[in-house]
Amino acid sequence: MQHIQQIGAVSWSNEELKWAIPTFLELYQNRPIKDNQGGMKAPHAFATWFMLQKLRPKNVIESGIWKGQSTWLIENAVPEAKIYSLDINLSIREYISESATYYEKDFFEVDWTHLDKSQTVLFFDDHQNALERIRKGQEMGFKRFIFEDNYPAGNIGDCYSLKKAFQYAGFQSNKNYRGVKSMLREWLKPSRKVDILPNKEDAQFLSEILEVYYEFPPVFKATQTRWGDDWTEDNYPTPQPLYTAIKAKEFQVFEQEAQDYTWICYAQIK
Ligand SMILES: C[S@@+](CC[C@H](N)C(=O)[O-])C[C@H]1O[C@@H](n2cnc3c(N)ncnc32)[C@H](O)[C@@H]1O
Repeated sequence: MQHIQQIGAVSWSNEELKWAIPTFLELYQNRPIKDNQGGMKAPHAFATWFMLQKLRPKNVIESGIWKGQSTWLIENAVPEAKIYSLDINLSIREYISESATYYEKDFFEVDWTHLDKSQTVLFFDDHQNALERIRKGQEMGFKRFIFEDNYPAGNIGDCYSLKKAFQYAGFQSNKNYRGVKSMLREWLKPSRKVDILPNKEDAQFLSEILEVYYEFPPVFKATQTRWGDDWTEDNYPTPQPLYTAIKAKEFQVFEQEAQDYTWICYAQIK
């Protein structure tokens, strides 16, 4: 198994991440959905907000809305951007943006020819096959991707991720995933959850097409994962956390929600 956490360089440092946390927390305390179970929590909300601020796209395509917290976050990260928000079930939304354009469709069902691909970031939080998203996204001309569900190797996570691909792990769709909530089961679309045998070709493909692959570091790393086992480098290779101890009271949300980190990543095609 190979462990790749980064290819190429991003335009920010871990120091900048640390400096940005207080500004993020000020925003985060005003989030519209206080209980976002089933959606992003503080570690990935911070990552998404920070990376979008840095990438400054003119367009963001969000796939996987759930209650709408991530739409709100995107709006606040890049207020000037045009947001296209997709979900196969829009009825769950609690926060509905006045500026986003909504689609009750899969990303592949929408015609994106009018968009300037160089000015667009795709944010996928829809638990679908990331390899397929990036392969077809590349064919369509998209270059910049954020994948929220970047599960590592093992019988965990409900979709094929870039991390699993880099680890040669493949993906087995018919197992009883450890720790996946019942609501996640509802989102499983058997037709999309195709088994992928462990292989090196997908990792090779990603290494060839990607200029950047970057796993956003956790702010704080717990000793155990959400799956109840030890969070070691052997089991779950992870970028160095920004903090090894959380002292400030206002930072404690990162400790409380540390297990909601699932190796969110940024990928940029050459
Ligand atoms: C984890 S939730 C999204 C959480 C949300 N981004 C947040 O942070 O609050 C996953 C969502 O993906 C949606 N979904 C499932 N399959 C999808 C697809 N093919 N295209 C778009 N959305 C999909 C589900 O309906 C669900 O609302």
